[in-house]
Amino acid sequence: MVPDSILSQKAGSPKRLRLLVLASGTGSLTQALIETTNLRAEIVAVGADRPAPVLAIAEQAGLPTFQINPADFSTREAWDQALASAVAQYRPDLVVSAGFMRLLGSAFLTQWGRITINTHPALLPNFPGAQAVRDALAAGVAVSGCTVHRVIAEMDAGPILAQRRLPVLPGDDESSLHERIKTVERNLLVEVINHIALGAIVLA
Ligand code: GRF
Repeated sequence: MVPDSILSQKAGSPKRLRLLVLASGTGSLTQALIETTNLRAEIVAVGADRPAPVLAIAEQAGLPTFQINPADFSTREAWDQALASAVAQYRPDLVVSAGFMRLLGSAFLTQWGRITINTHPALLPNFPGAQAVRDALAAGVAVSGCTVHRVIAEMDAGPILAQRRLPVLPGDDESSLHERIKTVERNLLVEVINHIALGAIVLA
């Protein structure tokens, strides 16, 4: 658990958080976190739920990685507990789900929910779920964006910490819109992490 001293830190006293990243995908957000020079956090490990490209990105950067794959467990609960235990080894102050495409369960959330945030490629509460960009396009929205929020048991439903909007352009398809969202999402994620490190966002 994150020490209370960090959560109640006064704004203006910088702190480099021990940051653990969970991801499932190509890892462009994780790469951005690795490359960001002004991140007030030290990435202590990157974990995945599958043999995802993000693991190679982390390894190339010299970061510890782990893979906790549901296929290796007989129940969802056992997987969830194993994930919680793997995270515990790195004593994170903050856990970021950066494209982790799996719901976190009660064993994980009991231990880590208070300090876990997620980034989502839509303006929640609209378009939760794994097909958020496709759903937003199908609904014909003129503006989309991204959301960073706290994680609770319900998918993409935790309290919103920050959002960024961007226009849907004529001719946008799922891929082009998602790529544009990701460029904004990277910066938003860094901002939120830094605000947490500074105590400007308190995860109490
Ligand atoms: C991000 O848009 C995230 O919000 C979504 O998946 C994307 C991750 O992209 N859930 P990447 O794997 O970091 O490139």
